[in-house]
Amino acid sequence: MRQVEDVRSKMLYDYETVIRLDELNELKVKYLGKKGLITELNSQIKNLDKEEKKAFGQAVNELRGLFLEKYEKLKKRLEEDKIREQLEGEKIDVTLPATKIRRGSKHPMSLAIEEIEDLFVSMGYDVVSGPELESDEYCFERLNLPKGHPARDMQDSFYITPDYLLRTQTSSVQARYMMERQGKTPIRIIVPGKTYRREDDATHAPQFSQIEGLVVDKKENHVSLADLKGTLEVFARHMLGSNLDLRFRPSYFPFTEPSYEVDVTCFKCHGKGCNLCKDTGWIEVFAAGMVHPNVLRMNGYDPEVWGGFAFGPGWDRITMFRYGIPDIRLMYQNDIRFLQEFDRKDGE
Ligand code: DAH
Repeated sequence: MRQVEDVRSKMLYDYETVIRLDELNELKVKYLGKKGLITELNSQIKNLDKEEKKAFGQAVNELRGLFLEKYEKLKKRLEEDKIREQLEGEKIDVTLPATKIRRGSKHPMSLAIEEIEDLFVSMGYDVVSGPELESDEYCFERLNLPKGHPARDMQDSFYITPDYLLRTQTSSVQARYMMERQGKTPIRIIVPGKTYRREDDATHAPQFSQIEGLVVDKKENHVSLADLKGTLEVFARHMLGSNLDLRFRPSYFPFTEPSYEVDVTCFKCHGKGCNLCKDTGWIEVFAAGMVHPNVLRMNGYDPEVWGGFAFGPGWDRITMFRYGIPDIRLMYQNDIRFLQEFDRKDGE
């Protein structure tokens, strides 16, 4: 019976020290496992004589009962503690500042073209596109630039085969669109797109972008040079500054007659002269003109019946002017620091 008492006090002491569930499980092994202390007492019962057997057996049984009672109680408590602890640990403090999600930003050229498209759509234009890998026929021949024409030298080209090249100008879509319409409907389109030439410096990249504009209508509707001027004025004032003026300089393009290069008042110095306008007070923004009768005829529009105008600013150039970007190459380098300059602010 002394032994039972010993185990009992050891057990009560051990229970005081248990603070974790795994310790409790160890305790169970220590007392009730195969070689556990209570198990051992149990195995002694059979060696005792009848009288002792009863009292001893009863005492061991009680001890076992006590152990299990304490075990269940403690187990429940420790499990609850554990759950509480977990809940505490996982509590979310909704007043903490949120982790910022990095949003991408639109490229400045996308920002610019969105504005331009909105403007032209509001004036009844359609926005259309054409292939970048273009045939010599659409890029040159149908624009009044037959093979061997000296004006082809102005556009150093990437030929893929003798008949196909990376288009040097979005003007190719003038011809494509006229052919598509088969000389039947009036045309009012802008064509933003990529173009390619063999050149590479601070103001020229081998891949750049243009926005072609084409308007064709019946002669009786008088689509005139004044309309061209008015259109470019709206365009320039919308994108570059509401108070600037336009200057038309005579120029030459095979697909327009007459042809112009169109300058706008320097938006940096307002005409006084500065480094941007090279002290002239003017900045060249557009090439434009009245659609050449040959171009109309070659593409299915009778020049006796139809007339119109066309224009072609550089999309990159307009974007650079709009946002004060000094080097065209910045726009094609994908430098995240540059792109982040055009990030939308929260709430915008
Ligand atoms: N495509 C010409 C170029 O890249 C620019 C141009 C000139 C476009 C006159 C036009 C135009 O639409 O009418 O140099």
